Amino acid sequence: MLHTTFLNKTFSNPIVLASGILGVTGASLAHMVENGCGGVTTKSISLEPRPGHKNPTMMGTDDYFLNAVGLSNPGVANALPEIAKFHSLSTAPIIASIFAGTADEFGEVAEHICASPIDFIEVNISCPNVGKEFGTPFAYSTTAIEAITKIVKSKSTVPIIIKLSPNAWNIAEMAKAAEAAGADAITAVNTISGLMIDIESRRPILANKQGGVSGPALLPIALKCVYDIYASVKIPIIGTGGVTTGRDAIAMIMAGATLVGVGSAAYYREKTCFAKIVAEMAEFMQTENIKSLAEIRGAAHTN
Ligand SMILES: Cc1cc2nc3c(=O)[nH]c(=O)nc-3n(C[C@H](O)[C@H](O)[C@H](O)COP(=O)(O)O)c2cc1C
Repeated sequence: MLHTTFLNKTFSNPIVLASGILGVTGASLAHMVENGCGGVTTKSISLEPRPGHKNPTMMGTDDYFLNAVGLSNPGVANALPEIAKFHSLSTAPIIASIFAGTADEFGEVAEHICASPIDFIEVNISCPNVGKEFGTPFAYSTTAIEAITKIVKSKSTVPIIIKLSPNAWNIAEMAKAAEAAGADAITAVNTISGLMIDIESRRPILANKQGGVSGPALLPIALKCVYDIYASVKIPIIGTGGVTTGRDAIAMIMAGATLVGVGSAAYYREKTCFAKIVAEMAEFMQTENIKSLAEIRGAAHTN
């Protein structure tokens, strides 16, 4: 009932581990599949290793999660054996997330990562927490999106997915630019910029001061983004942001998502959140007599 085909690959269910959450090694990514997700996304991988930001890098409340990890990762050369390890442990599809500071460097990382057994590349042009190093995220500019999409596409041997930012007020225009430049799919969304203040010390809580908001508070924002993108492009969407329950995931599908990314839910419902969300989706579908997800994909668009 929940099997989903995405760009000619079959996922046993539409729930995908979002980038940067729990899985950084091949073994931990495979462990997330054991915990119920239909596919996984790696932490964003850059050309060279990165230490990331100083602590504290994250905080959470019942309503939202705020992080500024700073894209810490071991670099592409060290990521290759981890992806091979995942492939030896699991048959689930794997999406390699990449990021870089320039269009050419994005192309270089894409070329390197294609030497490993990946199914897709997700191009992270939307991290809100590294502005001091990399300037304005590429995800706010159609020109930058076109340039990066074209170069990554030309260097990749697998389909490419462009990950967009909810901070771009006209996100559907960004999706259209990606589609026109050759993107095979869109992930919407990354975290939205935020800041929290500790009123005793009168300082921002995170060492980086600002961070990215995820978790329940992001859901209505992400749904609006997916809804607008679905109405504007033909390529499939991985709907990500604030999905914590099966009902949230169903709403993402009704907005137009084909796959549903899940990240911060692991903080709220532990690593078994994936299996719980899948079971809740199945339960809802049974109650409502829905036979397949195709029946309800984009359903919120009909008048
Ligand atoms: C701790 C943390 C680290 C993240 N690292 C990455 C990353 O490396 N690359 C990326 O594209 N997104 C990253 N994200 C964003 C998530 O992949 C996802 O887009 C966002 O958290 C919204 O989904 P959620 O509400 O289900 O967490 C990170 C999010 C969190 C909370």
